[in-house]
Amino acid sequence: MADIPHLDLNDGHTMPQLGFGIWRVPPEVTAEAVASALTRGYRLIDGAYLYLNEAGLGEGLRSSGVPRDEVFITTKVWNNEQGRAKARASVERSLKTIGVDRLDLVLIHWPVPDQDLYVETWQAFIEMRDEGLMRSIGVSNFNADHLDRIIEATGEVPVLNQIELNPELQQPKMRAANAARGIVTQAWTPLGGGRSFEKDPITAAAARTGKSPAQVVLRWHLQLGNAVITRSENPGRQAQNIDIFDFELTPAEMAAIATLDVGLRTGPDPSVFKMM
Ligand SMILES: NC(=O)c1ccc[n+]([C@@H]2O[C@H](COP(=O)([O-])OP(=O)(O)OC[C@H]3O[C@@H](n4cnc5c(N)ncnc54)[C@H](OP(=O)(O)O)[C@@H]3O)[C@@H](O)[C@H]2O)c1
Repeated sequence: MADIPHLDLNDGHTMPQLGFGIWRVPPEVTAEAVASALTRGYRLIDGAYLYLNEAGLGEGLRSSGVPRDEVFITTKVWNNEQGRAKARASVERSLKTIGVDRLDLVLIHWPVPDQDLYVETWQAFIEMRDEGLMRSIGVSNFNADHLDRIIEATGEVPVLNQIELNPELQQPKMRAANAARGIVTQAWTPLGGGRSFEKDPITAAAARTGKSPAQVVLRWHLQLGNAVITRSENPGRQAQNIDIFDFELTPAEMAAIATLDVGLRTGPDPSVFKMM
C-alpha cells in the first residue's frame, strides 16, 4: 500500500499530502466510495456540509475497518452559516452527522467578502478548536487580503488554504502568499477537468514514466509541495491516483508543465463569489 507523505502544519499537527474528496459523490454511494478509497490506502477524506453526503463519509469510515485515528477528516462551513452561532451549529451538526467526536480540520468554505462575516467566523473557529471540537482550523478560497484580515484580527494563522489549482491555473502568487504565512496550499479540482491531459508536457512525461496523464498531474502537485485532494467513484482510478509515489518528474518536465498556466478558473472568483 502507498506510503503517503505527511505535511507539517503550523499548529504542530501533520496531515497526509494526498487525500480523497467527495464533492459531487451522490449521498447513496458515498459510503461505498469512502470505504473503497480507505481500503486502497487514502487516509484523508475531504468533505463539506454543502456536499450533503457527510453521513456517507462516516458510514464509509466505519465500514472500512480503518481505525478512526488513522484517518484525517476535513469538513467545511458553508457561506450561509458564517457568523459565531451558525458556524458553531454547523460544526456540531457535522460532528453528529459524520458520527465522530472530533474533526481533524474544519475550513471556512469561501470568504464571501460581501457579507463580511469571515473574521467573526474565524474567531468562532478558534474558540471551537480550543474546546476540542476540531484539532486544526483553516480556510478555503481565501485571497491574501482575506488571510491578512483574519490574522491581524486574531493573531491566529490558518494551517491550510484550499484553493483551485491545476496545470492551467497554477496560482504562483497565491501559493507564495500561503507559504510566506506558513500556510499549506491544498489543491482542489487538481486535475482541472482533464483539460491539460493532451498537452505535450503532460503526454511526454506520461510516455517517459509509463504513467497516465492524471498521475503525472497529481505527481506535479506533490513535487510543487501542494497538498492535493482528488476524487473518483471508480475503484480503478482511485487506485491509479494513489499510485504516484514510485516515480519522479524531472526539473525539465516540471518546467515544461509550468508553461501550461493560463490562469483559467473552472470555479468562481473568491473575491466576488457569494452563493448561499
Ligand atoms: N473548497 C472548494 O471550494 C472546493 C471546490 C471543489 C472541490 N473541492 C474538493 O476538492 C476535491 C477534488 O476536486 P474534484 O472532485 O474536482 O477532483 P478531480 O480529481 O480534479 O476531478 C474529479 C473528476 O476527474 C475524473 N478523474 C478522477 N481520476 C481520474 C483519472 N485517473 N483519469 C481520468 N479522470 C479522472 C473523475 O471522474 P470519475 O469519477 O468518473 O472517475 C471526476 O470527474 C473535491 O472532491 C472536493 O472535496 C473543494
